[in-house]
Amino acid sequence: MPVRLPNRSSNWRLALDMLTRSIVLIGLTGSGKTTVGRHLAKRLNCAFVDTDNVVSETTGLSVREIFEQRGESTFRDHETKALEMILADVTPRVIAAAGGVVLAEHNRNVIRNSKSYVVWLDAEPSNLLKRVFAGGHRPLLDGDAPAVLTAMNATRRDLYAELADVRVDTNGCGINEVVKKVLEHIAPGGTL
Ligand code: S3P
Repeated sequence: MPVRLPNRSSNWRLALDMLTRSIVLIGLTGSGKTTVGRHLAKRLNCAFVDTDNVVSETTGLSVREIFEQRGESTFRDHETKALEMILADVTPRVIAAAGGVVLAEHNRNVIRNSKSYVVWLDAEPSNLLKRVFAGGHRPLLDGDAPAVLTAMNATRRDLYAELADVRVDTNGCGINEVVKKVLEHIAPGGTL
């Protein structure tokens, strides 16, 4: 039987007041971290922040411009600074950590030390393909996107698994279903 979530005006409202930890969404590029994160934040009535957006805001350049003009390693430096800046603020929020954040051990430690609730949005690379061309901020996928995604999945899976408090299988799920799954994991029965 499907789990029925309490409606927002009752138990979830209470849950909001008790939200003491940020929620960090991790997962492959295109796994829905930004879209799910926005919906989740709306549902929890808290702020949403995305590491890619912070990088763009602080540098005045798009992710693609940084990759093209300054290279991936400069982008990774900005990404680390963005992550540190976001997690230095202890106000509980929903945070979308871009797909490559987990590559650096330092970043993984920053996330661990923040005591955030880490949710891995897991999806088969083949299910991500239709989404990854939106937004234009994924220069790593400009070539053979299926092959790159498969390689990313192989390299990063263990890192996502190691860092996550919970894995949410998003294969075949729409946004609302994923949001619901995340909420059920974070707060079974409507309490946080
Ligand atoms: C990247 C993921 C992208 C973006 C950049 C690099 C990666 O963010 O930071 O293109 O290495 O996986 P999303 O995870 O939001 O797509």
